[in-house]
Amino acid sequence: MDRYVASETRYANSKIMYRRCGNSGVLLPKISLGLWHNFGACDPFERSRDILRCAFDNGITHFDLANNYGPPYGTAEETFGKIMKSDFAPYRDEMFICTKAGYDMWPGPYGNWGSRKYLIASLDQSLRRMGLDYVDLFYSHRYDPDTPLDETLQAIVDIVRSGKALYAGISRWPLDALIYAHEYLSSRDVPLLIYQGRLNLIDRAPQEEGILDYCKKNGIGFISFSPLAQGLLTDRYLKEIPSDSRMSRGRTLTSDKLTPELLSYLQQLKDIAKSRNESMAQTAISWLLTQEGVTSALIGASSTDQLLTNIKSIYSQPLTEEQNKKLR
Ligand SMILES: NC(=O)c1ccc[n+]([C@@H]2O[C@H](COP(=O)([O-])OP(=O)(O)OC[C@H]3O[C@@H](n4cnc5c(N)ncnc54)[C@H](OP(=O)(O)O)[C@@H]3O)[C@@H](O)[C@H]2O)c1
Repeated sequence: MDRYVASETRYANSKIMYRRCGNSGVLLPKISLGLWHNFGACDPFERSRDILRCAFDNGITHFDLANNYGPPYGTAEETFGKIMKSDFAPYRDEMFICTKAGYDMWPGPYGNWGSRKYLIASLDQSLRRMGLDYVDLFYSHRYDPDTPLDETLQAIVDIVRSGKALYAGISRWPLDALIYAHEYLSSRDVPLLIYQGRLNLIDRAPQEEGILDYCKKNGIGFISFSPLAQGLLTDRYLKEIPSDSRMSRGRTLTSDKLTPELLSYLQQLKDIAKSRNESMAQTAISWLLTQEGVTSALIGASSTDQLLTNIKSIYSQPLTEEQNKKLR
């Protein structure tokens, strides 16, 4: 196999690529890469490797994983671990790698949700799969209404103090629990680095629920997953459902999403993108990156072409007031 040497120009765009994550010392790329889809054992390894190499070669230093990404569960971390070993090992300190636990991972009562037992065992497994001594960031992947928040949060504090993760994050927690987490962690000198939620043109819940505002006011970074609504906010589904698309696999994106209302919204987005000489994906990401309080757009990609298109959005002009109005 050819030996990987990272592009010498990987930081050529660094003046506009990186943003401070909340009021922390960490800079994150405006575009981060997630390994939820396209990196499992079911996906072609060479394609996964090409996408990861292309990302790093273009200044993407933040890679988002979780214990159960695949399929099968765990295999996205294994793929990443293989590439870490063969390609990325010399660059470990240039990378900001995260993983999460919170969803269904292994059978029985200890492989899901937010107990101390689950989070600590899961992170140990993730580190083994990725061949890492530590991750840069560990997230509680979702709010658990049945586990005392103090138990989940103390496990996160202990994980950070153990050195197995450098920073703490939470994903998909409701506002009141976010406030509690922020206060709990700050008072134990483990500041909440970042909140991960879904914000995109057609799902603005973090803005409507006050989550983004709280993060902004309290120096917590915000990273948005599925900024393209899993591919809906691109030209992918304007005419048909392509056989190589996420929707054709029907696992996390189903055809009932393609309502007449959505298709007419997409037509609007297409026209606006065309008037800006951009792809729909670029315009959608560009909108996200200009929302106050947003640190990074956490994208997925099934090809290096998609990735390169999406990276271009860091050069986009903000949407005009009229364009914003049309896309509201
Ligand atoms: N915290 C959480 O609970 C949570 C939940 C979901 C995701 N995440 C994280 O967020 C990451 C991103 O989520 P996502 O994959 O749903 O993000 P996304 O960027 O909204 O969707 C990615 C998909 O859109 C399509 N696409 C991307 N760029 C395109 C382009 N330029 N032109 C046409 N199609 C394009 C591709 O679909 P095709 O495969 O059809 O080509 C790609 O797989 C995940 O990998 C994961 O790390 C976190």
